[in-house]
Amino acid sequence: MKSLVTTSSSVSPALLPSADLDVARIREDFPILKQKVHGKPLVYLDNAATSQKPQAVIDSEVELYSKYFSNVHRGVHLLSQRSTDAYEKAREKVQNFLNARSSAEIIFTRGTTEGINLVAQTYGQQHVQPGDEILISEMEHHSNIVPWQMLCAQKGAILKVIPINDEGEILLDEYEKLLSERTRLVGIVHLSNALGTVNPVQQMIEMAHQRGIPVLVDGAQAVPHIPVDVQALDCDFYVFSGHKLFGPTGIGVLYGKKELLETMPPYQGGGDMILSVSFKKTEYNVLPFRFEAGTPNIAGAIALGAAIDYVQEIGLDKIATYEDKLLAYATEAMAEIPGVRLIGTARNKASVLSFLIEGVHPHDIGTILDREGIAIRAGHHCAQPVMERFGVPATARASFAFYNTLEEVDALIAGIRKVQEVFS
Ligand code: ALA
Repeated sequence: MKSLVTTSSSVSPALLPSADLDVARIREDFPILKQKVHGKPLVYLDNAATSQKPQAVIDSEVELYSKYFSNVHRGVHLLSQRSTDAYEKAREKVQNFLNARSSAEIIFTRGTTEGINLVAQTYGQQHVQPGDEILISEMEHHSNIVPWQMLCAQKGAILKVIPINDEGEILLDEYEKLLSERTRLVGIVHLSNALGTVNPVQQMIEMAHQRGIPVLVDGAQAVPHIPVDVQALDCDFYVFSGHKLFGPTGIGVLYGKKELLETMPPYQGGGDMILSVSFKKTEYNVLPFRFEAGTPNIAGAIALGAAIDYVQEIGLDKIATYEDKLLAYATEAMAEIPGVRLIGTARNKASVLSFLIEGVHPHDIGTILDREGIAIRAGHHCAQPVMERFGVPATARASFAFYNTLEEVDALIAGIRKVQEVFS
């Protein structure tokens, strides 16, 4: 891959902390971005729903299926060994990406949702008793609400909710009050998909740990935008999806502290999660395989590894700095349009801009912008309780990635003005 950062000298880009991204060069790596939609250049601003894939990720799947695909952990033949090596190498890439202590702490899942369900139905089943409490926030995605509701219904436990302010920030005083002797786990989103708020997860984890309560962090939106270090955070569980990190769908990651994972019962039973099976007794496999029943998403994991390589080559610090500029530019431009209301104005935000246009339904905004070639999401963003908190059924949402440009933000602003003209 060619260098992805601009530099005017022969100094290594890595040594130039202020080097900007060469976005024009980066966009060359994303074939899908080159197309026109309704005769207009595609402006893809729906990255919080899913992100587009660089050629390196596409090539990774093509190479696997055309050269060395086979099942993993099962065969003595060469192809199986090569597939197994690539699959386990991908696990090490995830370990390095999250700065986990061991690759045994990295479980491949179908995505964020499965990771949370896994923790709820293993750790949760084991530790939650009638009358116990699970604590989540008002800005959670349904995936970090419903699995806990299901667990609470099974166990007679209580789901408690940390309120947020009108800017979309966690009320830390209220959080502190809600941490109780009955709290068995805190589940908190790192970066809100509906508001863009970046939560003070490190502080929240510290507060929970002072009371001996473990914390699961939903990192689905965070990992494509913010460097994540699970050891520095000291989170107990961290979950994310490959497809939001420029990798394929159907693959995700659950990080769990080894000492916790080792004591948890298995999630699903089947192949690869066992050491031996007889009709009398099954002995379960060691970590991480104990939580990966059945033939895994081999191609997904390997291509996720390629996506991680790609993102790390650019550098998440550079990505975060660049996207902050994009978000600030877009926020300022939107604030100048009368009749536009931003939902989510936290001091610490990233990559997501949820908004309303007075007198226009968000779905109409989405439809008119689509005719301009601009892809955004309109709806409740699988976060209905937070919509209710702001008294709206839905919002329009533009969400950015490092391949977006200031010119695309200009196109969005022009599109919003067009929507207003249509409805004036
Ligand atoms: N959770 C995804 C979103 O925010 C699908 O759009």
